[in-house]
Amino acid sequence: MNADSPTRNLPACDSPPDSMKTVPSRMKLIAHGEGGAPSVLQLADAPVPQPGPGEVLIRVAYAGVNRPDVVQREGRYPPPPGASPVLGLEVAGDVVATGDGVEGTRVGDAVCALVNGGGYAEYVVAPAGQVLPVPRGLTLAQAASLPENFFTVWTNVFDRGALRSGETFLVHGGSSGIGLAAIQLARARGATVYTTVGSAEKARACERYGAAATIEYRSEDFVERVRTLTERRGVNLILDMVGGDYVERNLRALAVEGRLVQIAFQQGAKLTADFTLLMVKRLHWTGSTLRPRTAAEKAHIATQLREHVWPLLESGTVQPVIFETFDLADARAAHELMQSSRHIGKILLKVAGD
Ligand SMILES: NC(=O)c1ccc[n+]([C@@H]2O[C@H](COP(=O)([O-])OP(=O)(O)OC[C@H]3O[C@@H](n4cnc5c(N)ncnc54)[C@H](OP(=O)(O)O)[C@@H]3O)[C@@H](O)[C@H]2O)c1
Repeated sequence: MNADSPTRNLPACDSPPDSMKTVPSRMKLIAHGEGGAPSVLQLADAPVPQPGPGEVLIRVAYAGVNRPDVVQREGRYPPPPGASPVLGLEVAGDVVATGDGVEGTRVGDAVCALVNGGGYAEYVVAPAGQVLPVPRGLTLAQAASLPENFFTVWTNVFDRGALRSGETFLVHGGSSGIGLAAIQLARARGATVYTTVGSAEKARACERYGAAATIEYRSEDFVERVRTLTERRGVNLILDMVGGDYVERNLRALAVEGRLVQIAFQQGAKLTADFTLLMVKRLHWTGSTLRPRTAAEKAHIATQLREHVWPLLESGTVQPVIFETFDLADARAAHELMQSSRHIGKILLKVAGD
């Protein structure tokens, strides 16, 4: 990756917006070169991107670190066409410039945003529809931990998975950023949530945030535990990020007319399984990945979050869970921590800070 590339894919701008006059021309960011181990993450210097029509420029205070960043760094998750090649899918900070046609977001607003890339930097461009206000009572650090997880959970658990109050829900990887968001939101919306975890410490954390039962996947069979927990009925919905042999086991753990939503295949996407249960139990199997979805689809999810999730964050019913914050220059250590899987909740990069 060329360190001068953040502006490379941006729409041509004849002249910068007036508000850009107070913004420096260059910024620090984390480059990942040709990709590879965490040691490829290095501080670099590049031009500040300019917001095109319908976009805002954010001065980043904090950026979230997500598993997809690790996969992108390794060269296994290329950015979609037109997206910044720089890592980073979510930020919080203040708006310093707006492009033509932006309404409702103004220079000086404290915001968080789902970005299409480029979050590991002092400045990043975001489509205005993906920008949300910092929920009342939350810090910028907490706000930076929200977008990637809550956009993903909303669209997969409530849109695609259609989880309803009174249903049972199994979340794999409950201690992940995604998992803790899913547990809390599902519980707040009236579901009974079970989750798989890798340790007793992670189990305690998931119970604290609303899991009705936890299953230590290294020593317990989640299919058997789900049978016991649901009096043999199975769960109505499963959110899976594991894949591999979990696919067939998920089919066994689902109730009749159950739904399985796939958001990753950490144990592989090529597998052999007996799919008979798809027919016998009339199951639904779907999945999605957030990043390539259109700006209009992401804006629609943002509207849903503002209406249904922001009030839960502002009342404290749902809480951001931050495990550790690193300086931007220490992005390597942040990725090493994520790969160790010792974390419970979110890992952040501090770019400027509150
Ligand atoms: N499709 C999308 O749009 C989308 C968007 C964002 C993220 N994702 C995916 O969602 C997952 C979580 O992302 P994140 O950023 O929150 O990462 P993360 O915090 O690193 O989470 C990874 C989780 O996977 C769990 N896990 C690994 N093997 C497992 C197994 N055999 N059984 C149960 N759990 C297992 C880990 O649990 P232990 O540490 O306890 O082993 C850990 O909690 C990642 O796979 C990511 O790629 C998908």
